[in-house]
Amino acid sequence: MSPPLAPKIIAGVTPPVATEADLLAIPIGGDSDSDPLDDLPGLDAAAGGTIARARASGEFCGKRHETFVVHLQSDTWRTSRVVLVGAPADTTGTADANAGETDRLRDAAAVAGRLADARRFRRVAFVCRGPGDEPSLAQAAAEGLVIGSYRDTRYKTETGRSLDGPEEGRSVCTVLQSDGRPGDALADAVRRGMALGDATNVARRLANEPSNILTPRAFAEQAVEAVEPTGIRTEVLDERAITDLGMGLLLGVAQGSREPPRLLVMRYDPPGAPEAPLLGLIGKGVTFDSGGISIKPAGGMEWMKSDMAGGAAVVGAMRAIGQLGAGRRVIGVVPMTENMPGGRAIRPGDILTGASGTTVEVINTDAEGRLILGDAIWYARQQGATHLVDVATLTGACVVALGDAASGLFGRPETWSAAVRRAAVRAGEAVWPMPLYKAYREQLRSEMADLMNVGGRAAGACTAASFLEAFTDGLPWAHLDVAGTAWHEKARDDAAAGATGVMVRTLAALASDEGSWEA
Ligand code: BES
Ligand code: ZN
Ligand code: ZN
Repeated sequence: MSPPLAPKIIAGVTPPVATEADLLAIPIGGDSDSDPLDDLPGLDAAAGGTIARARASGEFCGKRHETFVVHLQSDTWRTSRVVLVGAPADTTGTADANAGETDRLRDAAAVAGRLADARRFRRVAFVCRGPGDEPSLAQAAAEGLVIGSYRDTRYKTETGRSLDGPEEGRSVCTVLQSDGRPGDALADAVRRGMALGDATNVARRLANEPSNILTPRAFAEQAVEAVEPTGIRTEVLDERAITDLGMGLLLGVAQGSREPPRLLVMRYDPPGAPEAPLLGLIGKGVTFDSGGISIKPAGGMEWMKSDMAGGAAVVGAMRAIGQLGAGRRVIGVVPMTENMPGGRAIRPGDILTGASGTTVEVINTDAEGRLILGDAIWYARQQGATHLVDVATLTGACVVALGDAASGLFGRPETWSAAVRRAAVRAGEAVWPMPLYKAYREQLRSEMADLMNVGGRAAGACTAASFLEAFTDGLPWAHLDVAGTAWHEKARDDAAAGATGVMVRTLAALASDEGSWEA
């Protein structure tokens, strides 16, 4: 397995006062009235009263993501520095992801992880406190620490490669209870959180990789390396196999590129699992989207190296599923190609025939994601998938609709998209339901073929989803448009700039035995 992109996280067995670390991170639930820090007696005294003074003067208010570092001078406390991290209760009343106790803790842990990485603190102890189910809180804390401390330094020649460095170079984070109680449940939760954080970082690393390095062939190779050691079986179909299957949509998009396409297939078949259900996860794997002949404007085109973030999320999810185990079978399918202009590229007006026999009139070559996904969805059905979820950086229109606050969720029937939504809430990832009216399909009606690949300016995210629906043959299917959520242009308090790894945890939560797929 490629080395974990994460600090090592362990479950604590001592109370905070006795825990040795370079940094003790403490999430604070609000002001001194609502969170008087009673569970950490002697802390403020060891800090010479700085904490109480800072809270009284307003120097530290405990706002979300706010941090306050204090030094401890005491013989009893084994840590020399403490960081308080604001993690106030959500008052907006949004009954959704990012509002719950576990989400606040994950967030605070990510901020602590990022701060520790920036200041090169190698041993961090994070105190899991606040109301809620203890294992869930510990898992979220581990996820946050792993995700927050990730930074892509591969191409920095000076600061160099620390995260990919040797095992002994990794930092260690301890997740502990404020009363110091150890427990098997805690250790197991921390292990899960670490695996999910690591799988998220695997997806981020793939999506950050520039397109000159991560060609479709390289993407397939790196994905195989990322999932096989966890017991996932893989198969990589080359251009010959793709041609033999008649995937004219994937081949059409790929024909303008010098790089041949690939179709990555990943299988998780736990021994003894029934044939059905078989969860089919499909991810858009466009390693660079120039737009093709309908070429994109230059501004921001460099982000299109991450137009395979949906595919990377499916790879990350399969890695997590392989590592954590689940009772249900899962198949992951990622069509991989570049979308380039050139003398061999498809033109507006061209008609392509997909493996399902559906013909598509290409109106805009920049609407390539839906083309390759059409063939990949068909393939997942052919392989016996009973339930489908696709993840794709599909439309700029979804960015206009939801920004980076939530991924767009489309699907049918309602029971299935609701199951996906519940998984997202459990995972702490925001998704928002979007409609699939019949009118959208009508916008795609072609004079020449079965479908056009674009449906005009109106409801761009919805017509794209409606296009995909045409390839699902009535199976339960959900589509997650992550165009606005897969990439952060700027660094944040809780995450480095670049790919976010969004939907890895949601897909893993959906596959896990925890959640029911029924209403
Ligand atoms: N990869 C883009 C969508 C995208 C846009 C992702 C911005 C991330 C940020 C997709 O292939 C695309 O170009 N879609 C077109 C569709 C249009 C031609 C109907 C779009 O959204 O402009
Ligand atoms: Zn495009
Ligand atoms: Zn694209």
